[in-house]
Amino acid sequence: MSRMPALLYRFSKSAMHALPAWVLRVRPFEVLEIPLADLPAVCLPAVQGIEVRWVASPIEAGELRQLVARRNIDRWDGNASRAAAVWQDGAPIGVLHVALDSFDEPELGVAFRLAAGDAWLHSAVVAPPYRRQGVYRQLLAFALESLRREGLHRALLGVTVGNETSRRAHASQGGRHVGRVSAVRCLGLSACLIGGAVRRVEADRNGRGGPTLLTVGHG
Ligand SMILES: CC(C)(COP(=O)(O)OP(=O)(O)OC[C@H]1O[C@@H](n2cnc3c(N)ncnc32)[C@H](O)[C@@H]1OP(=O)(O)O)[C@@H](O)C(=O)NCCC(=O)NCCS
Repeated sequence: MSRMPALLYRFSKSAMHALPAWVLRVRPFEVLEIPLADLPAVCLPAVQGIEVRWVASPIEAGELRQLVARRNIDRWDGNASRAAAVWQDGAPIGVLHVALDSFDEPELGVAFRLAAGDAWLHSAVVAPPYRRQGVYRQLLAFALESLRREGLHRALLGVTVGNETSRRAHASQGGRHVGRVSAVRCLGLSACLIGGAVRRVEADRNGRGGPTLLTVGHG
């Protein structure tokens, strides 16, 4: 990875997260889509001693607190808001959340409404000591194949501009750029610029102060 964008990404992320969420949040991100009908045959490295599966209960969801923000655990329902995780010796070492009907980013003031057949992947993380060993590759392949078997057609996700690690990890499993969102929320006011296949859902706009509703067409 080129070091400059990666360093800029890390610096701007930590600088902004030093401020409370209500003061300022900025996130320019690419929207990627992964068609589920023609998933690439992924050559999975053998990661020893791990188990990959859907999180099956609120207790298991609570065990993810070391890895993800509290709001992801709170919105887990095992169905329209679920999580796939990698476990080693009974402890989660990686997680990927999946939303099926809608995906809200309250800190940014945007919310995606998902079409039938679409899933939104978010809040993917592998614990630092386990990175670069193929753990996420295995987790993502598991989640995509499970969603395909359920009859879903497409996985979508937002990759923050500069997060080259995430962009590559998803591109290697068929992820391609279909749109872009630059969202900012400052002191309760939000604005966003969109491009590509990302569209506003004007008719459903949730009134003053509500999130900007977005959807992703077919690019
Ligand atoms: C992104 C993340 C989940 C990847 O997890 P991981 O288990 O280390 O990834 P894997 O080892 O399975 O690697 C999968 C692919 O990701 C890419 N990748 C992973 N780490 C990378 C790095 N440091 N630099 C460049 N590419 C990288 C590669 O394409 C890799 O495939 P390859 O090994 O065949 O080259 C992990 O780095 C992470 O938790 N990052 C912080 C949170 C984050 O950015 N999440 C994404 C939000 S959309």
